[in-house]
Amino acid sequence: MLIIAVINQKGGVGKTTTTLNLGHALALMGHPVTLLDLDPQGHLSASLGVHDPHVSGMDVALLGEQSLSDGVLSVRENLQLIPAGARLGEAESKALPRDRLHNLLKAQFSDQVAVLMDCPPSSGTLVVNALVAADSALVPVSGDYLALHGLSYLMATFRNFETALAKKIPLWLVLTRYQQRRRLARDVRDKLMTYFPNRILATPIRESVALAESPSFGKTIFEYRPKSIGADDYRQLAEDLLHRRTL
Ligand SMILES: Nc1ncnc2c1ncn2[C@@H]1O[C@H](COP(=O)(O)OP(=O)(O)OP(=O)(O)O)[C@@H](O)[C@H]1O
Ligand SMILES: [Mg+2]
Repeated sequence: MLIIAVINQKGGVGKTTTTLNLGHALALMGHPVTLLDLDPQGHLSASLGVHDPHVSGMDVALLGEQSLSDGVLSVRENLQLIPAGARLGEAESKALPRDRLHNLLKAQFSDQVAVLMDCPPSSGTLVVNALVAADSALVPVSGDYLALHGLSYLMATFRNFETALAKKIPLWLVLTRYQQRRRLARDVRDKLMTYFPNRILATPIRESVALAESPSFGKTIFEYRPKSIGADDYRQLAEDLLHRRTL
């Protein structure tokens, strides 16, 4: 089983879009996947059509009031979600033990091929809990200059985490919101390739309107526009992950 934290403290780079559509792509290939919404904003849950503020999940589990499995919703065939819940912000502001999620996940979901955790754009206690529980991290990077700038900050925090947790966390990068025709995007890609050889998943996720539209319908790209470039890209990305195909 893969336990992957989808992280980047920079906002709006495609963490939620990637967790959602990579997860559904794997599920559609027949691999059971569980998604954890670790962002108090609850965008992942909303993107799957789960809006009810009374539905709890990660919040009460992390606060120690309910088991993780009690929060599991079956959202699609082969796809389960543990929603954020209205009190995840409360959990975030508490000094949770950093191994709480790791302990909750232990011996759970062993029938799943992947557990994907959608992290908030911060480096607080929820992200630390995700990294302790994860066996690898997936970092979406958008194709703009500031993405590179943010990345050196992310790498510094990441190395600090690794030292503090005394644990090596293999890192995968995924290029998101990629505009092939823009020189800047290609420059960002080339620069990343020199810094992260063999760590960038082979398929860049191209900028596409359908990917931006689908969450407002509570649909993944495979339900909203199965023939779009966004669907193609996330299908390929799922293959990249399974077969470790990198640039
Ligand atoms: N490949 C893409 N093409 C077009 N729009 C995209 C693409 N990927 C993401 N978006 C849009 O960009 C916005 C930010 O994406 P998303 O919510 O996935 O980022 P995030 O990193 O999870 O943000 P946050 O840090 O706020 O949680 C959303 O409106 C999303 O629909
Ligand atoms: Mg998000």
